[in-house]
Amino acid sequence: MRVMGIESTAHTFGVGIVENGKIIANERDMYLSEKGGIVPTEAAEHHRKLANEVMRRALSRAGLSLEDIDLVGLSVGPGLPPCLKAGLDFAKSISDSIVEVNHCVAHIEIGRFVGKLKDPLTVYVSGGNTQIIAYAGGRYRIFGETLDIGLGNAYDKFARSIGLPMPGGPKVEELAKKGKYKELPYTVKGMSLVYAGLVTAAEKLAKRYRIEDACYSFQETALSMLAEVSERALAHTKKRELLLTGGVAANKRLREIMKAVAEEHGASFYVPDREYCGDNGAMIAITASLIGKAKKSEDVDIKPNWRADDVEVLWIKK
Ligand code: ATP
Ligand code: FE2
Repeated sequence: MRVMGIESTAHTFGVGIVENGKIIANERDMYLSEKGGIVPTEAAEHHRKLANEVMRRALSRAGLSLEDIDLVGLSVGPGLPPCLKAGLDFAKSISDSIVEVNHCVAHIEIGRFVGKLKDPLTVYVSGGNTQIIAYAGGRYRIFGETLDIGLGNAYDKFARSIGLPMPGGPKVEELAKKGKYKELPYTVKGMSLVYAGLVTAAEKLAKRYRIEDACYSFQETALSMLAEVSERALAHTKKRELLLTGGVAANKRLREIMKAVAEEHGASFYVPDREYCGDNGAMIAITASLIGKAKKSEDVDIKPNWRADDVEVLWIKK
């Protein structure tokens, strides 16, 4: 079976192709705004303009034509409505039968696929999302998450406020290497994270101390909060694998901390290559292959607030 996956939930328009369980194409184009943030309607316009070209590139890479595709998977949420709608319109223009794929579930499935993992605890940290997820009783359950902004956006917001260029995450990480710790508010409520207060306090800190100290203190606090919740989830679920994914997984300090958390609990640690950590079409194709043809439908629609725990995971048998 040949499955095409389409991703368009936020910045990235991606098309991936999977043939008999093997990734044979994964092409993308990313919307970049001047200021580094995202204007949803502009991103959607980008997706509409580039969709066909990205798909052509993927087909050519796979040595296939559109008629060779048996099933199309579309990431219908969670995401920004204008971007989702651009993906929906494009998918409908190329196929009658589409399967709906949840974006967060797809991050887990591509991680399981490339890392050959069975049943991981997933720490998914991107610009817009920060969730700690694990399979239990037929669904991916969310064991912890941010109550306000995603960790990547927290890095970006803080970075912008101290005048760093976008994307801010890598810059903050770099500056943090030369910083010293100053106290900042640490907010974990049960299994939930809150980042906005930390961002504001770190901005203030940057006015009184060296920028390196503000970056270091921001990063150590933000990552410790995530580590605390992840560690508790690992202890509770007793999973034997820890999967770290999403754009923020590029952060070396985060990898170091998560690896230590995994080791402490006798779990293996895995981070997919960059190509599969960020948003991509292959993850949608892989997940659509698992969902299968039986679930295809003609009245597919966008689901901007679709949560991972709303998805019935029928492809994992226990
Ligand atoms: P999603 O829709 O899944 O939320 P996104 O487009 O918002 O996706 P990604 O592309 O997965 O996010 O990741 C981009 C984010 O990752 C940005 O916020 C960026 O600052 C952050 N990031 C990238 N590298 C690093 C790093 N080294 N340290 C911290 N944050 C980083
Ligand atoms: Fe994502």
